[in-house]
Amino acid sequence: MMIDEMWLQKNKLKKLLSQEVFFLDLVKEDAVSLRLRKELIEWLGLTVSTDRAQATIVLVVNPELSVNAEAYEIQENLIKGASSSGLLYGFYNFLRLKLRGKKLEESSEPSQALRMINHWDQVDGTIERGYAGESIFFGTPGSNDNTDTGSFALREIKGDIFRNDFTRLEMYGRFLASIGINAISLNNVNVRGLGTNLIVSPYIEKVGEIARLFSGFGIKTFLSINWAAPRLIGGLRTSDPLDEAVCAWWKKVIGHIYDVVPDFGGFVVKADSEGEPGPYQYGRNHADGANMLAESFAPHGGLVIWRTFVYNSQTDWRNRKNDRAKAAYENFMALDGDFADNVILQIKFGPIDFGVREPLMPLFGALKKTNQMMEFQVTAEYLGHQIDLNYVLPQWLEIIHTDNYGLAKDTVKENSPLAANSGFVAIGNVGMDENWCGNKLAQANFYGFGRMCWNNDLTAAEILREWLDMTFVDVDERAKKTIYELLMTSNQTYEAYTTPLAIGNMIVPHYHYGPSINGYEYDRWGSYHFADRNGLGVDRTMVTGTGYSGLYAPELAEIYEDINKTPDELILFFHFVNYDHLLHNGKTLIQTIYDLHFEGYNKVLEFQKSWQALEGKIDEITFRNVSQRLELQVQNAKNWRDQINTYFYRMSGVEDKYGRKIFN
Ligand code: GCU
Repeated sequence: MMIDEMWLQKNKLKKLLSQEVFFLDLVKEDAVSLRLRKELIEWLGLTVSTDRAQATIVLVVNPELSVNAEAYEIQENLIKGASSSGLLYGFYNFLRLKLRGKKLEESSEPSQALRMINHWDQVDGTIERGYAGESIFFGTPGSNDNTDTGSFALREIKGDIFRNDFTRLEMYGRFLASIGINAISLNNVNVRGLGTNLIVSPYIEKVGEIARLFSGFGIKTFLSINWAAPRLIGGLRTSDPLDEAVCAWWKKVIGHIYDVVPDFGGFVVKADSEGEPGPYQYGRNHADGANMLAESFAPHGGLVIWRTFVYNSQTDWRNRKNDRAKAAYENFMALDGDFADNVILQIKFGPIDFGVREPLMPLFGALKKTNQMMEFQVTAEYLGHQIDLNYVLPQWLEIIHTDNYGLAKDTVKENSPLAANSGFVAIGNVGMDENWCGNKLAQANFYGFGRMCWNNDLTAAEILREWLDMTFVDVDERAKKTIYELLMTSNQTYEAYTTPLAIGNMIVPHYHYGPSINGYEYDRWGSYHFADRNGLGVDRTMVTGTGYSGLYAPELAEIYEDINKTPDELILFFHFVNYDHLLHNGKTLIQTIYDLHFEGYNKVLEFQKSWQALEGKIDEITFRNVSQRLELQVQNAKNWRDQINTYFYRMSGVEDKYGRKIFN
């Protein structure tokens, strides 16, 4: 099996660099500098000399370069790093410039301190919300059947839970480091079965082996824990965070982890959420829970990354006052300032769940005394399952640059008491698939997430151009331009034919691909559209609705409170809107719904046509891979268009102004 090299084209790099002689000027040999040496000698087969005079390219660690240890500087054939990690980043960025044929000049340091990928991989080899085959960490060699069974119960496990494919893991570490990722968690936040035992022997030893490999790439390894572990695997009767025996148990477990994995990153915790256990069960709050663990981590320099995705997933849909969008704020805002220094709140970018369009989560800007990370999802759970094309950078960048009206320009970092304990995190999208992401073009989101974390000021277009140049290295400019145009409009196209105007969930429940207009409407999950014969949308205003808009800074609240000021793209998130209401685009709501769905579908047909024209101009494997997916996307877009348009035609009774075919 040929494993895809994504944006790091080994043969091309070898060709570009084979005449060079490298010299490494290091302050000390550590795991990262050893890796750097290996990258040169073993991965790329290049010449490293011990004589500086012979060298044509010099790599040097110079702590005076910057107070930021991860900073680097490239000047022609001199690459400097403020530490060995900085130098490793400098090296990979040098490769990017080389592959793109750009001037070898760049000076850079990361915008975000923590740049993390969470894996939702399970010990049986499946991945929750994974669309690219099985886990690269867990599972039986040879098995690659990540079929969505509609249930999250684990499969039967026989033998070793680890996949032990260190070749894959080494490649993965390289991809991560090349885009500046410096932390990963290996296992799903819903910790089931043997997953609970990863923190103890005999499993922690293998985690240690994996962590050692990643340390060389400047990456810290974390594990997700089950809050009930003291009860489930510790033999205790309780998991109450204030119980002495519970604290002592965690202390022992954490101490042991550091004996085995000296640079272990810490825990990721999903507690009291979607049925997972947590401190609420014992009448304690989230600060009690997080701080208890943090105390045991403090002497080792470890972190507790505590998720705020906490809401009542047993909502009575009959109760119109209940608003899931407010849940994280209600659960965590009152605790601002109560968390230990080594606790970080991991907060989803929007108030619901990685939707195709959501406003910025109001905790950002409001929390001022708590370390925080903004959470994204690279794996395309609500965004087309890596079947439909969806280059999501335009959406993410819009979110991170949302004007918070003085609450803090760089909200996440500036509002974290310890900037070093803040950053961005995303759920990864790779699996055992040959091209890692199921859809070759979904690699752009993985690449883009890392680049966005490193440099918040890059644009979606710049990131895409980088990825295209490196990935399609010998492809002609016109073909690359076709792929560029297709991807740059893919996110807005997906939004148009699925759920525009921030309608919210109309997706097949649980599976989250394809339309199901009322799938969640009379259910317990708290995401509703409230469509009737007059209109649709959720009134979240302070005056007549759930009051959610009041959670923002006054300037922003005023905009969201007013139906005439709320931008079209968010209007149904904040207001119940009548079908005949005129939007800012000058059209009625119902006509906008029809238009977007027709346009979205037509655009996908255009995507397909443009892609077909690439036959013979790009490699056959990629051509076929994306062609197959586009066929499925056309079907998906058609289903969305017809179900949505039909439903709202029947509800409203309003004809399409252009008389297009609506199936009634
Ligand atoms: C979504 C997703 C779940 C996941 C959850 C989370 O709800 O559908 O599979 O467990 O997010 O972020 O914890």
